Amino acid sequence: TLNRLVISRGSVFANLLIIGEAPGSQEDLEGVPYVGKSGKLLNELLIKAGIDFQKDAYFCNVIKCRPPNNRKPTNEEINIHKPWLLQQIKLVDPKFIVLTGSTAMRTILELSNPISKLRGQWFMKDGREVITIFHPSYLLRFPSKEVGKPYDLTLKDLNNVSSKLYAL
Ligand code: URA
Repeated sequence: TLNRLVISRGSVFANLLIIGEAPGSQEDLEGVPYVGKSGKLLNELLIKAGIDFQKDAYFCNVIKCRPPNNRKPTNEEINIHKPWLLQQIKLVDPKFIVLTGSTAMRTILELSNPISKLRGQWFMKDGREVITIFHPSYLLRFPSKEVGKPYDLTLKDLNNVSSKLYAL
């Protein structure tokens, strides 16, 4: 089994940084974040929100290599990888950060409230505007597109991100 370092995709000049949890099997194969099923869904949502992600977004993960069997990263692993992530944020220097899922939310915002309570809310962190959305793997498990369901709420959140990003 592989265990590549998975660092980033997208533009280092982007104003938007998107942070996931950890590479899955496809990411491990390709060495690129968010290229599996979750990544495809995330791309689809970004396109629907009018975000030109090739040009305007940079993607990375809290954890830089795939945890065995895609289990949740441990707090110890998060603490080991966090300095890399913080350095990446500094280097890209984005105006906006989208945290996908609770691992990214806990790591950056240091909040452990349920994601359903915190998603869609903007926070200021080190001079950057930060918002949390549901993890795309959650939307894969609950695919309903009805108003008020996770997919619809996530699209709403990303539309909100898009308005700010393109109002610059
Ligand atoms: N792929 C990633 O790169 N990160 C995730 O969080 C999920 C899938």
